[in-house]
Parts: sequence; C-alpha cells; structure tokens
Amino acid sequence: LHNDACNFVIFGGNGDLSIRKLMPALYFLDKDHQLAPAAKIIGASRTALERAEFQSMVRKGLEEFVAEKYMDEAVWERFSERLSYVSVDASKNETFQHLSEVLGNDACLGNTIFYLSTAPGLFGPICRGLKASNLVSEHSRVVLEKPLGKDLASSIVINDGVAEVFDEDNIYRIDHYLGKETVQNLLAVRFANALFEPVWTNSHIDNVQITVAETVGVEGRWGYYDDSGALRDMVQNHMLQLLCLVAMGVPVSLDQDAVRAEKIKVLKSLKIMSASEVREHAVRAQYGSGVANGASVPGYTQEEGGKPDSTTETFVAIRADIHNWRWRGVPFYLRTGKRLPARFSEIVIEFKDVPHSIFPESSNIMANKLVIRLQPEESLQLYMMNKVPGLGKGMEVHPVTLNLTQPDKYADKRIPEAYERLLFDVMKGNSTLFVHRAEVEAAWKWCDAILNGWAEHAGLPSTYMSGTWGPQTAFELVAKDGRSWHESK
Ligand code: BG6
Repeated sequence: LHNDACNFVIFGGNGDLSIRKLMPALYFLDKDHQLAPAAKIIGASRTALERAEFQSMVRKGLEEFVAEKYMDEAVWERFSERLSYVSVDASKNETFQHLSEVLGNDACLGNTIFYLSTAPGLFGPICRGLKASNLVSEHSRVVLEKPLGKDLASSIVINDGVAEVFDEDNIYRIDHYLGKETVQNLLAVRFANALFEPVWTNSHIDNVQITVAETVGVEGRWGYYDDSGALRDMVQNHMLQLLCLVAMGVPVSLDQDAVRAEKIKVLKSLKIMSASEVREHAVRAQYGSGVANGASVPGYTQEEGGKPDSTTETFVAIRADIHNWRWRGVPFYLRTGKRLPARFSEIVIEFKDVPHSIFPESSNIMANKLVIRLQPEESLQLYMMNKVPGLGKGMEVHPVTLNLTQPDKYADKRIPEAYERLLFDVMKGNSTLFVHRAEVEAAWKWCDAILNGWAEHAGLPSTYMSGTWGPQTAFELVAKDGRSWHESK
C-alpha cells in the first residue's frame, strides 16, 4: 500500500516550474488514472492565494503547456477538485499548521510526497517545519529540485539539512534529463544488446562528445542564472548524468542501488583538474549580441536585469577524463551553451579508425559513430561506411547512416514528458532515475576544481556572438587533440 504515495505537496507551487512542468505532468498522470482517487495536490508558498486563484493559475498553465488535443474537461474537473493551496512561511513553524489542516487525518498521510521547488536555502527549514508539525512519517518522500548548492560545501549543508528529517532512501533528487525517454533508452541500447558492450572500451572508442545546445538566452532569469552559470546550471547535473550513463559499467540489475553504484564509480573516477589543466581543458565564454532564431538579440550583460561587469559563463566546452580501466585515454568532450545556432542535445560515441585502409584515397574513410539524439527529436543513428554504388566508382566507399527508429506501432503513442515519468517513479518508490547524495558530492568535487581554476586565472570569459557555436577556443579544445566536433546532418 505504501508504495503508492498519493498526496503531493509542492513548495513553490505557484512558481514557474510548478506551473510549466509539474502541474501538466500531474494532469497527465491523472488522465492516465495513475493518481489514487483521493489524492490531493497542494500548492504551498509564502504568497497568500485563494484556492480559486490557484486553480485558475493552474488551469491557465495547462492551457498553455498541454497540447489542446489532450485537454479533457472531465479530467480537469477531477484534477481541479484535488487542488488546494496553503500559505506557508518556512521560517515560521506554526504556519505549517495550515498544511496539517488541509491534509487532515487523511489515511494516505503517511504517503505524502513533498516536492521542494524553492530556493535550496529553504530545504532544511521546510523539512524541519514539516517534522515539527508531525507531517513526516517513515513513508513520506521528499523531492529536491536543483540547484543543490553552488559548490561542494554548500551542497553538504543543504543535504545535511534534509537528512536531519528524511532518510536517504526517501530523498529523490531530481535531474529531469534522467526522465527523458532517449536517456533511458540509452540503458536499453547498451545493456539489452550484446553488440555494443564488448566494444564499449578504450580499445575501440576514440572519444565521446556530449552537446547540449540551446538557442534561448537567460529567459528572464538573469538573477538566478548569473549566480550560477553554465557549469553549475547544466554540467554539474544534466551533462555529468549523461556522461555517467555512457561511461558506467554493467550494473548487476536495474535496481536503484545497482545503477547508482555504477554511476558513483564513474563520478569518482573523473580526473580532478589542476589549475593548469583547467586552463588547457575548460573553456568558458559569455554570449554577446547577435542573431538568434532570426531576430537580433542583446548580449548577456545587456539582458533585462543584467549587470555590465558580470563574468558569468553562458557557454562551456570541457575535456573530461575518466581515470579507470575502461576509459583511460578516451576524452569525453562536453559542450553546452545558450544562444547557439540550434537547439539539440546529442551524445556522439566515436569509434577508432580502421587500422589501415585498403580503399581508394578518394574514399576518405570515416570512423564509425553512434549518434544518440535526445532532443528536439529522439533518434539513434549508426554511421557506417558503405560502397558507393555502380561500376564507375570501383570500391570507393562513403558514409551512410543506419537509423534505429521505434517501430510504427509506437508512432501514435504519446511520450511522457520527463517530469511525468519521474513523478510516477516517486509515487512507486523507485529511485533508479534519481541522484544519490554521493553522486551530487562527487560531481561538485570535480566542478569545484574547474571553478577554482577559473577563479585563479581571473579575468573575463571570452565573448562569442549570439547565433554562433561559441568561441574559437572551443574548437581548439578538440582540434589540439587532432579531433573535431561532430556535425549532424
Ligand atoms: C534547466 C536549466 O535545468 O535545464 C536551464 O536550468 C535549461 O537553463 C534547461 O534551459 C534545459 O532543459 P531542456 O529539457 O529544455 O533541455
């Protein structure tokens, strides 16, 4: 019974994430009859709001973020009945009383999921407030949104605050990249096929490239972003998680502890960079004005709320090295940035060249590559060399791609959004796709070295024009190893 938690309390319930992502995800779960009949969804924050105001806020959000064909009035009726709102001030324990009143002596109380989507400095106080009001049982679960700190030291403070009240088994640290369908498919491709695992080592793989490119700028969140920057916002969490899934060893099962143990090994094998290695291997830059999505856009420091002297990076390109038997000598190139020319996320596994080519020079044999696209479309392509057809060409060969697509029978299937999948897993008590405290800390340790290296050779990050692929140094980072970034067709 306790595996199907039913009530959701969302701190930061009227915030952007809740309205854009969490409410639509819960709406779909309700539509698919995954929520318990009596499940309550309670928005909580410091702001005073009437229940009806909250309901209409959620409704407006659904109209904006859920495709019209999925809006169903009967489901909305049911969903809106579940919604309520309480005003809670994390620094005043007595205000948690409002929450007890709404949750009441609900039979499901023990199963409540507390979703913390507030400033992380409030996580500890919120957990203490919940405990003081007897709202926490051994079955309650807490979900933590990023950012989990600014560095290792601050993340320890946040995690300690939560750990005073919740056991690690009941803490779900969300990284929404792990909820993406293709990211999970990566586990299937790697471990449900005998083909790949034997070549998934430094004997056969030359390098790995992970790119998360965005065309958007800071989207009105200058203050938040400026405190963070691309390394903390994207690399410490999403990109290192992707790296883990590519690099991890075969887990003994899909069980949460087994998968996380393998990921932790990878994170602990990341080579911590010295200041001089940071200079060599970690490029940072900030976008200047330019053209994005066909329109002129301002530079980062000229954005609304921007400060002219900010040195925050909006782009990074890093060479990460994993010091273990499997990966020694295989660079993992990570690249992410805002205001780039296209929006996509992609993992490229580049295999080694054939040892010796027997084909005409005009063939220009290219190494095999496995290209895994996470977005905007989800796809998996294997780049292979093939004979150019016809007599005239002799044995000239050229690259073709083998497209691994889902069978047509899934064409009409709606792919759940990352948050929907992850909230479903929290309800089921499955934390395989969540991040363990040890992962967060190992990831921060590696990032801290880069941040310290940057701080040591102070000065401004270089500037790249909006609508370009970042600074020249990002190309040099791979070129000096004799490689280049993969360009998707
Ligand atoms: C968030 C970052 O975690 O991920 C944002 O804070 C970024 O800055 C976003 O835009 C990207 O997520 P997605 O799913 O759109 O690739």
